[in-house]
Amino acid sequence: MPLVAPSILAADFSRLGEEVKRVSEAGADFIHVDVMDGTFVPNITIGPSMVKSLRAYSTLPFISHLMITHPERHLRAFAEAGSDIIEVHIEAEHDVIMDTLRDARALGKKVGLAVNPPTPVESAFPYFGEIDLLLIMSVNPGWGGQKFMPEVLPKIRIAKAEMDRLGSRVPVEIDGGINIETGELAARAGVDILAAGTSVFKAPDVRKAIEALRACGK
Ligand code: DX5
Ligand code: ZN
Repeated sequence: MPLVAPSILAADFSRLGEEVKRVSEAGADFIHVDVMDGTFVPNITIGPSMVKSLRAYSTLPFISHLMITHPERHLRAFAEAGSDIIEVHIEAEHDVIMDTLRDARALGKKVGLAVNPPTPVESAFPYFGEIDLLLIMSVNPGWGGQKFMPEVLPKIRIAKAEMDRLGSRVPVEIDGGINIETGELAARAGVDILAAGTSVFKAPDVRKAIEALRACGK
């Protein structure tokens, strides 16, 4: 059964602390924090000081999904703010991506590598020995509430087959347009973590929404 990581991008930003508490108490497994810099993606969202403030509202692991051009410049700030898993994009900084992954681990954090829809998952293979999580984007990042792109689904099996070949399985997370229907497709394809913003935070009953996502692929 997949684990569920509500993306707070879809939460009420005027009361983010309470929103984090709300999904934590409703059974979430992680808190997914979408960090955007206005350059790597057009939108601007949350920085490390916000992560630090939100930390008091949940004991769940925080995933900081860095959709930023220079993740290497901000790793320490997000680590010190209380992120548990730091996800960087393979599209961000090709030259220094290996160093960035190693630096995140050296800061005592788990590290994830994110792959956008147009990027072949094979381009992440050289980093599989250096990561704790693989994030497959099922929308082009920048906004919540976009439509799931089913064409990314084969990436899950391709990645898992390569991990098996290497003998190093790490969890695969999918992010973007996840609801019970698309979560079902992803879970059947073998995904381990469902990141979901709109379908959790805009649900009439957040607990039921999280439980329904966790039951995907049963
Ligand atoms: C996309 C973000 C996602 C997004 C998910 O840029 O990385 O985490 O907020 O939101 P929904 O579930 O609404 O697509
Ligand atoms: Zn995200």
